[in-house]
Amino acid sequence: MRVHTLLAWVIPAFITVVSASLSSTAGVQSLVKRRLPRHVDAFEFVISDTAVAGNGVRDSYEVSSTDNGKIQVKGTSTSAVISGLHRYLAEVVHLDVWWYIGSRLDQAPLSLPKLDQPLNGSAVVPLRYHFNTVTTSYTMAFWSWEDWELELDWMALRGINLPLAWVGVEKIFIDVFREVGFNDAEISSFLSGPAFQAWNRFGNIQGSWGGDVPFDWIEDQFKMQLKIVARMVELGMTPILPAFPGFVPSNVTRIWPDAATKKSPLWSGFSAPYSADTYLDPFDPHFLQLQKSFMSRQLEAFGNVTHYWTLDQFNENKPGSREPDYLRNVSHNTWQSLKAVDPDAIWVMQGWLFASDSSYWTNERVEAFLGGVTENSDMLILDLFAESSPQWQRTNSFFGKPWIWCQLHDYGGNMGLYGQIENVTINSMQAVRESKNLVGFGLSPEGQEGNEIIYDLLLDQSWSEKPIDTQTYFHDWVSSRYGGKCTRIPKELYAAWEMLRPTVYNNTQLSITNAVSKSILELLPSTSGLTGRKGHHSTVITYDPNTLVQAWQQLYAAGLRKPFLFAHPAYQYDLVDWTRQVLVNAFDPLYQTLVDAYKAAKPESEIRAAGENLTSLLETLDKVLSTNKHFRLSTWIDSARANARTNLSIASFFEYNARNQITLWGPTGQIEDYASKQWSGLVGKYYKQRWQMFVDYLAKTPTGNYNQKDFKAQLQKWEIDWNTQTSDLDYQAGELRPVVADAVKQWPQIFMQN
Ligand SMILES: *[C@@H]1O[C@H](CO)[C@@H](O)[C@H](O)[C@H]1NC(C)=O
Ligand SMILES: *[C@@H]1O[C@H](CO)[C@@H](O)[C@H](O)[C@H]1NC(C)=O
Ligand SMILES: *[C@@H]1O[C@H](CO)[C@@H](O)[C@H](O)[C@H]1NC(C)=O
Ligand SMILES: *[C@@H]1O[C@H](CO)[C@@H](O)[C@H](O)[C@H]1NC(C)=O
Ligand SMILES: *[C@@H]1O[C@H](CO)[C@@H](O)[C@H](O)[C@H]1NC(C)=O
Ligand SMILES: *[C@@H]1O[C@H](CO)[C@@H](O)[C@H](O)[C@H]1NC(C)=O
Ligand SMILES: *[C@@H]1O[C@H](CO)[C@@H](O)[C@H](O)[C@H]1NC(C)=O
Ligand SMILES: *[C@@H]1O[C@H](CO)[C@@H](O)[C@H](O)[C@H]1NC(C)=O
Repeated sequence: MRVHTLLAWVIPAFITVVSASLSSTAGVQSLVKRRLPRHVDAFEFVISDTAVAGNGVRDSYEVSSTDNGKIQVKGTSTSAVISGLHRYLAEVVHLDVWWYIGSRLDQAPLSLPKLDQPLNGSAVVPLRYHFNTVTTSYTMAFWSWEDWELELDWMALRGINLPLAWVGVEKIFIDVFREVGFNDAEISSFLSGPAFQAWNRFGNIQGSWGGDVPFDWIEDQFKMQLKIVARMVELGMTPILPAFPGFVPSNVTRIWPDAATKKSPLWSGFSAPYSADTYLDPFDPHFLQLQKSFMSRQLEAFGNVTHYWTLDQFNENKPGSREPDYLRNVSHNTWQSLKAVDPDAIWVMQGWLFASDSSYWTNERVEAFLGGVTENSDMLILDLFAESSPQWQRTNSFFGKPWIWCQLHDYGGNMGLYGQIENVTINSMQAVRESKNLVGFGLSPEGQEGNEIIYDLLLDQSWSEKPIDTQTYFHDWVSSRYGGKCTRIPKELYAAWEMLRPTVYNNTQLSITNAVSKSILELLPSTSGLTGRKGHHSTVITYDPNTLVQAWQQLYAAGLRKPFLFAHPAYQYDLVDWTRQVLVNAFDPLYQTLVDAYKAAKPESEIRAAGENLTSLLETLDKVLSTNKHFRLSTWIDSARANARTNLSIASFFEYNARNQITLWGPTGQIEDYASKQWSGLVGKYYKQRWQMFVDYLAKTPTGNYNQKDFKAQLQKWEIDWNTQTSDLDYQAGELRPVVADAVKQWPQIFMQN
């Protein structure tokens, strides 16, 4: 949607035609049937090699009105046709499909607007990619098929044609491992729980704390994967399937005494038995044996749907040797194993390691590792954090391997309002101009948390020759965000978003903050070290908080003037989200007051009064969040339990996984609060309790006796206990309008400032 022009320069010819479905319109027709059931006859879809004159290579489309009153969408591929449909729906009908909010396309008027002039679009890059390997755990661990259907339509409409497809791969692991003689106890000791599979797939962790992952559930996941892959193909996407990376149950030497193995390092605060995965060297003949079984089983199950295979061996795992020859040997043999099954295989690799462990991954080692694959076009590198920590320049464009410019944006599904609009538009296009082996743009968020406009911006940049003008873009985005039947969008909504564009969504100080920020309210309470954190989980507010308050006032004013907005799902979501951020930002000064009072050895009553401010703000925040199910802990937990069907003990284990991932992240807080969320139930029952215990501790501990270790030990007992609870989530879900009005009444100094 939004800004689209024809391309002026030529992209390298890295175009891999992968699936027969490229020439089918069945996928777009069924999408229309699902989302616009009253309009199945209103459209005409055509796939043609030359949708837009002069462009036969990259995806392009043309949308126009026909003489018989239909909207015709012509495109060079299924993905191009769906992109054209999306352009028309978003830009002309002002409707879209959204994360959380769902599909609004059924709001389209019976008689669709005619086009006086055709809408043309032409892609700047052949590939549009989606997902981080960990997104499936942080966001989709417990998704139902309905959740996936919405996501897949969202992706197709936004032009994605190359997504990761990870769900249920443990079924393949189980079958392959059984085949070579591992027993089920050994396999179980390797597989991780439902909320932690991504890191097991990376070889960072192994095994499951709190219970074993039930093989029945893995079967259910695999059945869902059959549907996901089929739908991806139908919608013009080429799934990237997992290949065997080399991690095996630690008892491998029981079945192969001479196997060439290495122990991976311990990962991120974990210890044995949950880390230091056993790694089978790719030059061991058994590696090839496992690879053949692993890939063939998937091709058998899904059909020959792809040549793209995702495989990461050293993601946050240092290789067992520092020698360039070893690295070249590993990649060469890994590559050969892929080719042995699929002669056209393309090895897709996350380039995260080069950024996260750049002291190990010197250019010499990067070149040796990538150089083991002597056919450049057989590899595809994801420059995973390109908006903040791009690796393509220092590695001379990955020494010739095709690569994708990815925006990571979010760690652990953290929830701060945040964006880097200049990097997403300007630096992505700089890469297109300067790197001839750049072949795509993509999204690689750790969690799909919100800030949807920033993800849309990069995907739309895929169709625009010039860096998108963000002012026009935000305006048009607001039109489709709040569009719908007889909606005239109040001017305050445009004004509100325009205030956030050059501020909240334009962070340029990357040395301070380079991804979605966190609030200190989600961190383990302490008298020091919380504020002013920099980097991936910055606690620095990168804009003047007053600007957000003023924008919030506009957003709220729109609803007061046009009360129908309170029933509009996009407005409901955004008002909660922005109110959340205003309250969260106000937590910092209250915290400072408390700590100052404590350090000045003020009387207990004063410390308690300052503490009361903190906990009472958290109560208000919890109520605001409770008005929307997408901001509730119970939504996450209910879906976890639903995955267990009717078995209560499995349901409890899944609930434990769900709670543990967003709090302790590990049996005893190995990566504590990494994937924290500002959700009702978590704020009111977990964070608030931690702060209350902190206030109590301060109130009874003389300043000179403060001991963070003692306090933490006390707290951790309670946290571990909370992780195993299975009830206690009842609360009154308030109604948005009165709840926000109450919050404003209670905290005038927060909401009325200017
Ligand atoms: C759109 O493409 C058609 C050819 O298919 C061409 O006639 C028309 O001029 C193009 N319009 C624009 C605005 O580029
Ligand atoms: C590993 O193998 C040994 C025998 O060699 C066996 O005693 C042990 O139970 C196995 N471990 C697991 C997790 O099954
Ligand atoms: C998939 O490809 C393999 C090897 O090229 C071939 O033997 C097999 O018949 C194909 N399967 C399908 C379902 O087309
Ligand atoms: C890789 O290393 C193994 C073990 O040292 C050796 O047998 C093999 O020949 C090497 N392969 C290549 C391609 O260097
Ligand atoms: C991000 O954008 C800012 C502001 O335009 C610029 O200074 C910075 O160099 C960019 N960073 C990257 C990694 O592209
Ligand atoms: C973003 O912020 C930078 C630095 O303050 C400023 O130069 C630039 O104009 C801003 N960009 C936008 C799109 O507002
Ligand atoms: C509580 O917070 C309000 C608003 O920031 C402030 O005016 C008041 O002084 C605080 N009370 C205490 C005891 O710190
Ligand atoms: C629930 O699952 C557990 C663990 O797999 C199993 O032992 C138990 O028999 C199951 N209970 C029911 C009622 O099926």
